[in-house]
Amino acid sequence: MALDKPYLDVPGTTIFDADQSRKGYWLNQFCMSLMTAENRARFKKDEDAYLAEWPMTDEQRAAVRARDLNWMMSTGGNIYFLSKLGASDGLSFQQMAGSMTGMTEQQYRDMMVHGGRSAEGNRVVGEHGDAQGAMSRSEAWTQWDNAHQVALAAQIEAAQAPAESGASANGQATISASVYTSHVPAIGAAVDHGKTQEPYWKPLFDGYEPSKQWMKDNLPDVVVLVYNDHATSFDLGVIPTFAIGTAAEFEPADEGYGPRPVPKVIGHPELASHIAQSVIQQDFDLTIVNDLKVDHGLTVPMSLMFGQLKAWPVKVIPFAVNVVQYPVPSGARCFALGQAIRRAIASYDEPLNVQIWGTGGMSHQLQGPRAGLINATWDNRFLDRLIADPKGLAAVPHIEYVREAGSEGIELVMWLIARGAMADVAGGKAPKVAHRFFHVPASNTAVGHLILENQS
Ligand code: DHB
Ligand code: FE
Repeated sequence: MALDKPYLDVPGTTIFDADQSRKGYWLNQFCMSLMTAENRARFKKDEDAYLAEWPMTDEQRAAVRARDLNWMMSTGGNIYFLSKLGASDGLSFQQMAGSMTGMTEQQYRDMMVHGGRSAEGNRVVGEHGDAQGAMSRSEAWTQWDNAHQVALAAQIEAAQAPAESGASANGQATISASVYTSHVPAIGAAVDHGKTQEPYWKPLFDGYEPSKQWMKDNLPDVVVLVYNDHATSFDLGVIPTFAIGTAAEFEPADEGYGPRPVPKVIGHPELASHIAQSVIQQDFDLTIVNDLKVDHGLTVPMSLMFGQLKAWPVKVIPFAVNVVQYPVPSGARCFALGQAIRRAIASYDEPLNVQIWGTGGMSHQLQGPRAGLINATWDNRFLDRLIADPKGLAAVPHIEYVREAGSEGIELVMWLIARGAMADVAGGKAPKVAHRFFHVPASNTAVGHLILENQS
């Protein structure tokens, strides 16, 4: 069981969760495309040709052609998306909803006029309400199912297998280590343009040589990479405080210099969706992002830890934190979020080796007459406390980061998410410091780096 789903026994109801969303992604995107008159006209003119433009499954295309909403929902459709299709056909929401109930339009309207369907007997599967019957389905859906009996049986078996084999037969995912590092676009440029051995850059890259070796010796399956987006994927149109990338892959962004020549980032949609489900159920309101380009905040730490490769050797779950527009989340909130992420990962039923990285910082200010501020004393104290007193460090207010570490030094709050996910915070052993490094400058920034290993 990847997701904790307390809603599976509600009769006649499909909850649109991350699994449904993944299944229905292109069906729902197709529906969204019908929000322009031009696309509606093209669709109406030649449905098959228009549908062929979308990477949907054949079943989804058949369900659309049949205009069977229950069928479309069973393949991942969500009513708000599907309603764009219904609206293109001139249907009202009442006609759409009614069409899924097995009633005639008139019967459904009469039921609504008389106060609507009762919750009595319709709360849990197996009661005796009027929504407990079989789902209404079109002739086309029945025919499809008959023609695909073998595939259907295999699907049902696969769905039942994990439940029968017992949840944790193969063990749970665990966090083995956390990694902390600054990011600076110029570091990425130095890597991409072969300048790492130049006198300015050599001392910095030398500091990451042990890290690259450590990475080879301790390669995880997945990295949860906490970083900030720098007005790249999120402009002022949408500013999520915490956002998790649940897509299968993420392209490097073009930040104005052209995209970095680094491999695309391969995600882990199942674990990411599980973390989202678990963490949101622990009352942290994550934004779920399926369409995300990753900027230097993510790709520079990857280059520092792996060097130049044709493909990244790990899967990565991007976890973006708003540190651009205030209010930004507090250190305490970040630290608590890290603890929630640790619980989420520990409840994932696959023995994945997971690392969590906290990136950004250390002291730097990129703006105004105070630009260029560096506070090596404060930075090193931050590293000391991150290792030995993370809870105390989490209580430091934003204003201290700004005064002491510069306006962009606030990126350091993200390190507390990774630190909160370590075992000692949940009562386990103190972590081992596998590597520590500090260097000034890289461009405008003090560079700090730590590797902490969980001790079993
Ligand atoms: C620099 C540092 C950053 O953290 C960033 O996002 C952009 C630039 C710099 O030091 O140049
Ligand atoms: Fe930055």
